Amino acid sequence: MSGTTDPNPWQDNRGNKDRSITRSSTAGGVGAADAAAGGAVRPVAPGAAGSAFLVGERMTGGYGAADILTDCTIEARAGEIAVIVGPNGAGKSTAMKAIFGMLTLRSGRVRIGGEDITHLSPQARVGKGMAFVPQTNNVFPSMSVEENLEMGAFLRQDDFRGTMEQVFELFPVLKQKRRQAAGELSGGQRQQVAVGRALMTEPKVLMLDEPTAGVSPIVMDELFDRIVEVARTGITILMVEQNARQALEIADRGYVLVQGRNAYTGTGAELLGNPEVRRTFLGG
Ligand SMILES: Nc1ncnc2c1ncn2[C@@H]1O[C@H](COP(=O)(O)OP(=O)(O)O)[C@@H](O)[C@H]1O
Ligand SMILES: [Mg+2]
Repeated sequence: MSGTTDPNPWQDNRGNKDRSITRSSTAGGVGAADAAAGGAVRPVAPGAAGSAFLVGERMTGGYGAADILTDCTIEARAGEIAVIVGPNGAGKSTAMKAIFGMLTLRSGRVRIGGEDITHLSPQARVGKGMAFVPQTNNVFPSMSVEENLEMGAFLRQDDFRGTMEQVFELFPVLKQKRRQAAGELSGGQRQQVAVGRALMTEPKVLMLDEPTAGVSPIVMDELFDRIVEVARTGITILMVEQNARQALEIADRGYVLVQGRNAYTGTGAELLGNPEVRRTFLGG
């Protein structure tokens, strides 16, 4: 864990130092456990990620009397892209909120880097390295692009200008439009602002709820490329996506949620190759 030659521009001294810049597809990721299990897509596989960096374990809870999540487990190893898919109302956003601490769980735990954070506030979780881009209202529309990014650095005491330059390298159009109000940007550009703002915290885990909602297929592909780029720096990505097929193509680990439960769990490739998952959730 030496910080001086850290190749990850996003995390200075805080992150996962055991990642090379190139992710090794799925080998040694979910794949290792799956090979041992015969390679099948399992109905439920809590704990399959073994030494996962981010763990929402057997989460049960909701907004009131009725549980939305039931025994739901979501995990990601350091530097992986984990993707949650499933029908509308399945509880995908609720699972994200639970992991970020916006929902009190009736049972289950949340851990980051082995530390139990189940009872921490969202703000305290940001301090532990979590960043969350919610599904809606994820930018300040009347503020400039630059001000939005500065808001992301709100909790930081150090000089964040270097991080802002890295965000501009990742999303060059934001540099051009840095003085423009975020509300005037296109949908895809606003999503870049939202992701950029989250990166300003130098997170270890970046959580994205439908980052490509409402953008064109080309913009979606570009955004996925940038997300892969971020993951290659060692940041763990947990993402909810409507564009299930495309998202699973870049996923190391995939979760299909149905009615708040784990319906299918596997590598992205396994889920894409599973006839039942294809027929029921991917349109054949
Ligand atoms: N703030 C809330 N208060 C009460 N119920 C909610 C709230 N948010 C979502 N729900 C309900 O929880 C269920 C799951 O919603 P959600 O997690 O948003 O699903 P998804 O993101 O998979 O579309 C839905 O039945 C929804 O109506
Ligand atoms: Mg949702």
